[in-house]
Amino acid sequence: MRLHTPLATPRLLLRTLTAADVGPRYLGWLRDAEVTRFLEVRHGDRSAAATLAFVEEANASPDTLLLGMVLREGGLHVGNIKLGPIDPYHRRADLGLMLGERACWGQGLAAEAIAALTGYAFEMLGLNKVTASCYGNNEGSRRAFLKAGFHEAARRPRHWLCEGDWQDDILLEILTPV
Ligand SMILES: CC(C)(COP(=O)(O)OP(=O)(O)OC[C@H]1O[C@@H](n2cnc3c(N)ncnc32)[C@H](O)[C@@H]1OP(=O)(O)O)[C@@H](O)C(=O)NCCC(=O)NCCS
Repeated sequence: MRLHTPLATPRLLLRTLTAADVGPRYLGWLRDAEVTRFLEVRHGDRSAAATLAFVEEANASPDTLLLGMVLREGGLHVGNIKLGPIDPYHRRADLGLMLGERACWGQGLAAEAIAALTGYAFEMLGLNKVTASCYGNNEGSRRAFLKAGFHEAARRPRHWLCEGDWQDDILLEILTPV
């Protein structure tokens, strides 16, 4: 799916990615062990070709909205956020993100982006629920989702093997306001 008009938050624009975004900056995040520590992409193909295919597939797909997180001030592409796959029958979708620029961590940008895309999911796509999950030791992610209004729905014990230790899977979700 593509967005014709970017979503604006106080500090970010969330916009459709293009091939030009798949450059050294984005590919560098995927090679940064700190960034990918809690992401399954660390086990996958992180080449330029595979990353470009990932972006193009998402843009062409009817059920996945992959957006770049771009600083409104200065225009720097600092991360990506994804809604999908969208289940049109049950009206729910999963949301995940990667704030790749480490200098941008801890400033509330993730929570801001999550809240904006969740609002779009409810108001423009008519979804009923947005779900997410994170490793039990990914406290930054857990807190960013809570700050954006999600709640913890469940924990699946010893679900992920991370740096030699088992981690729970934390399932988070937010329901459309009634
Ligand atoms: C995890 C991630 C999304 C957090 O982004 P962020 O913009 O730094 O998060 P926010 O600033 O919105 O943080 C929300 C809260 O978590 C806290 N926080 C952020 N990183 C933290 C960390 N590593 N440890 C503990 N708390 C942390 C913030 O201080 C903030 O606290 P508050 O609620 O008291 O204000 C970002 O670091 C990231 O993308 N990391 C790499 C990929 C990843 O893990 N993605 C998520 C996969 S589920």
